[in-house]
Amino acid sequence: MIGRSVLITGSNRGLGLEMVKQLAGSSFPPHHIIAACRNPNAAQELKQMSEDHNNIHIIELDVGDERSYSSLVSHISEIVGSYGLNVLINNAGVAPKSTRINMVNWKQMTDTLHINTIAPLMLTKALLPLIKVAASQLDGSSLAVKRAAVINISSILGSIAENEQGGLYPYRASKAALNAITKSLSLDLQSSNILVTSLHPGWVQTDMGGKLAPLTPTQSISGIITTLHNLTEQHHGGFYQYDGQKLPW
Ligand SMILES: NC(=O)c1ccc[n+]([C@@H]2O[C@H](COP(=O)([O-])OP(=O)(O)OC[C@H]3O[C@@H](n4cnc5c(N)ncnc54)[C@H](OP(=O)(O)O)[C@@H]3O)[C@@H](O)[C@H]2O)c1
Repeated sequence: MIGRSVLITGSNRGLGLEMVKQLAGSSFPPHHIIAACRNPNAAQELKQMSEDHNNIHIIELDVGDERSYSSLVSHISEIVGSYGLNVLINNAGVAPKSTRINMVNWKQMTDTLHINTIAPLMLTKALLPLIKVAASQLDGSSLAVKRAAVINISSILGSIAENEQGGLYPYRASKAALNAITKSLSLDLQSSNILVTSLHPGWVQTDMGGKLAPLTPTQSISGIITTLHNLTEQHHGGFYQYDGQKLPW
């Protein structure tokens, strides 16, 4: 089991939806798969899945709406009870188009940083008390997703070392900053035994990745789930892709 409870943001489509699907269908599924999305009423496929699997809890969450966080935390606390929340997967993200230097604008920059960078940090902060409870349930100090983890879904486009094409200012900057957040969180949460890692899902056929992407969501997420099982201390504060390969910052 990946963890007793897992919260995935942006779970109504794309990689988030596929993650819910594969976790629910796994041999040892989590007791609670908390599928957060902006508009549960419109999330038809997710709703169907939750009818077929009673461990899927759909909750409404616009990650950019900080005012909703306290009721969200109460709701999740009711679901997970005294076991706490094992895994937070900060998956929700946006990628504006037309962001070469002549097209980029203030709104794209602030909106993208708001959702891709600030929201994962502030959501992690809000949920930390519940994640710390989960981390304290196991003896010892080993780091593993099954104990407690924050997984930031990043992108190779946030790698400064691998940037050979320029452009994409909002998206690249938002994911590079998310990676910086992963590193700081890993240092701050080490003593609480909470694993923190950035993961790049590969270039995947979703609304964001487009039809030309080489990977299907099934391939990417099955790789991510295997990688999550294999994460240890040595991955803490690092940047990896879906198949476990280490990536440069
Ligand atoms: N696909 C790729 O090739 C690729 C590559 C590298 C990294 N990634 C990363 O992987 C993650 C998932 O991407 P994807 O390919 O699945 O993209 P996607 O198909 O476009 O899905 C994006 C998801 O994020 C949600 N979202 C956006 N803004 C939100 C907000 N304010 N509050 C809550 N949810 C919000 C969307 O919900 P709505 O339906 O409500 O908009 C949707 O569920 C992202 O972080 C992305 O940057 C993807």
